[in-house]
Amino acid sequence: MKKLLAFTDLHIRASNIIGLDPVERFKEGLAHSLAHHSDAEGIVLMGDLTHSGTVSEYELLKSLLMGIELPIIFMMGNHDRRDAFMQVFPDAVLDGNGFVQSKRNIGGWHFITLDSLDGPPYPDKQHSGRLCDDRLTWLSDALRQASDKPVVLFIHHPLGDVGFPGMDDIKLTNADDVLALINHHQMPVHVVAGHVHRTISGMWSGVPYTIFKSPCHQQPLDFTIANSSLAVDEPGAYGLLIFDEGNLIIHSEDFGIAQRDIPPDPDVDG
Ligand SMILES: [Fe+2]
Repeated sequence: MKKLLAFTDLHIRASNIIGLDPVERFKEGLAHSLAHHSDAEGIVLMGDLTHSGTVSEYELLKSLLMGIELPIIFMMGNHDRRDAFMQVFPDAVLDGNGFVQSKRNIGGWHFITLDSLDGPPYPDKQHSGRLCDDRLTWLSDALRQASDKPVVLFIHHPLGDVGFPGMDDIKLTNADDVLALINHHQMPVHVVAGHVHRTISGMWSGVPYTIFKSPCHQQPLDFTIANSSLAVDEPGAYGLLIFDEGNLIIHSEDFGIAQRDIPPDPDVDG
């Protein structure tokens, strides 16, 4: 089976976030993923690559990616700024309209990565996402071209609620348009999102999805506080997709506490 690695919500910046160093956390996760999955087809960086979207933060990210031989697929999140990103990563794949979107066939699956950063113009302090008409048309065409294969659709912003009032306020504002395109598609589509900083799976309007944690700070499991700035120090993670013709397995690896190569215990059975 083939593999694809995924990191979301890196929030790279030079200073700590709730006492955690996003650079060290990402370095640790990246090293762990490459030590155990160097046979992956590539690494998807699913948006919120940096915390403030500045050129210096993208340069810091670039230095962390130096020497990595796997293909890297970039995505935009609400904390990113496309123009600053493109200054530092001028070779990133774009969709023909200047958005950081891509599509590729690997191992019997069609992988589509979307750019859900709302703007420009970027709304002030507004962290919800939006796909403009150009991006929706591009997605519609990409799905049509993938008519013979199942699809994994990566998008930073969730397409529906996840139960946290603060985060549900800043999901993709026109998610219904995307869900309509997906539900019109003839083949299965699995959505992979970020933004929430917590491992979640479920369905939105009949569409199955997986959300990955951040390598850095996480969302607490509290359904009562309507605030999108809640963060706790729980173990960081990366995502691992394993797939072959018609089959898809999705894992989340908490790299900071992960243990491997332990002897079997006769008391443990399944
Ligand atoms: Fe985000």
